[in-house]
Amino acid sequence: MSFAFPGVVGTSPRMAELVRLLDLVAPTEATVLLLGETGTGKELAAQAIHRNSPRREAPFVVVNCATLPETLLESELFGHERGAFSGAVARKEGRFAAAHRGTLFMDEVGEFSPAIQAKILRVLQSREFEPLGGARTVKVDVRLIAATNRDLEAMLRESKFREDLFFRLNVFPIVLPPLRERLEDLPLLAREFLRVYAEKNHRPVKTLAPEVEEAFRHYPWPGNIRELENVIERGVIICPGETLTLEDLPPGIQPYGLGLTGEEDPEPNLAELERQLIRRTLDKVAGRRRQAAEILGISLDELNVKMRAYGLD
Ligand SMILES: Nc1ncnc2c1ncn2[C@@H]1O[C@H](COP(=O)(O)OP(=O)(O)OP(=O)(O)O)[C@@H](O)[C@H]1O
Ligand SMILES: [Mg+2]
Repeated sequence: MSFAFPGVVGTSPRMAELVRLLDLVAPTEATVLLLGETGTGKELAAQAIHRNSPRREAPFVVVNCATLPETLLESELFGHERGAFSGAVARKEGRFAAAHRGTLFMDEVGEFSPAIQAKILRVLQSREFEPLGGARTVKVDVRLIAATNRDLEAMLRESKFREDLFFRLNVFPIVLPPLRERLEDLPLLAREFLRVYAEKNHRPVKTLAPEVEEAFRHYPWPGNIRELENVIERGVIICPGETLTLEDLPPGIQPYGLGLTGEEDPEPNLAELERQLIRRTLDKVAGRRRQAAEILGISLDELNVKMRAYGLD
């Protein structure tokens, strides 16, 4: 395969399709819109596009539009002249200028204010802009990659996002699938993260216990690959032995490894799930309450109260 996508793991049909699209669009000048839930790999995909494009030797510049207040974002993107606003003690080059001849990755474009949307539209139409507080017009040669986890089409309907800007950004949309829709890739990803974090932290962990694999298959992964990576990093640090067990997972994920996914009962009730979880945890640790409380992330007193309430005494 000609396309180099370092660090990207996955062999599912959804991943193969993703790589195919990235491979097609990378060598072009087309604006790419990456859509997907948090942690699905949008930034990784943007880097891969840049590295596989003719612009690879020029800068790849990232700007996160969600973390900056409006005026700061505007000066961050377009730069400002000295004295453009109080605090602008020196002239500053913006990210558009910094990305000249390279690629600008605008993350979280769903957060743009109307004023910034108008300025971005102009750059997309004419590849020029004015830094804040000046009459100077700057011309740039920049390839744009935009990303968002928001539903831009819904924002269009609510008039929160400009239609003309949307169409300029939406030239080549690529959807990054959530982890729960490509579970085939999960064992591969999990094993890779296990290897990486065990090595990095000098830990002995080598494999996943079957209940952990089951938990991973049933948990919905709202934070996607980033969440999986964090769960494994934490587990590897906690785990004393060679096998990562359910106890090494965050309490919120553990029930999914005990067959408590609610699949048996179409409308599971929280108290019932809690009762089952407590009972199964006690079974697992042969009734040792202190250990069960620790696994469940509650105090021994709390466990005793719950056991009494659920008639598990
Ligand atoms: N296919 C993959 N193989 C291996 N690691 C991946 C893959 N996709 C994503 N990752 C890793 O998952 C983490 C999250 O990826 P990334 O930051 O690209 O997500 P994102 O979609 O930009 O998230 P957010 O919307 O929260 O900014 C990173 O550490 C990245 O290296
Ligand atoms: Mg991101």
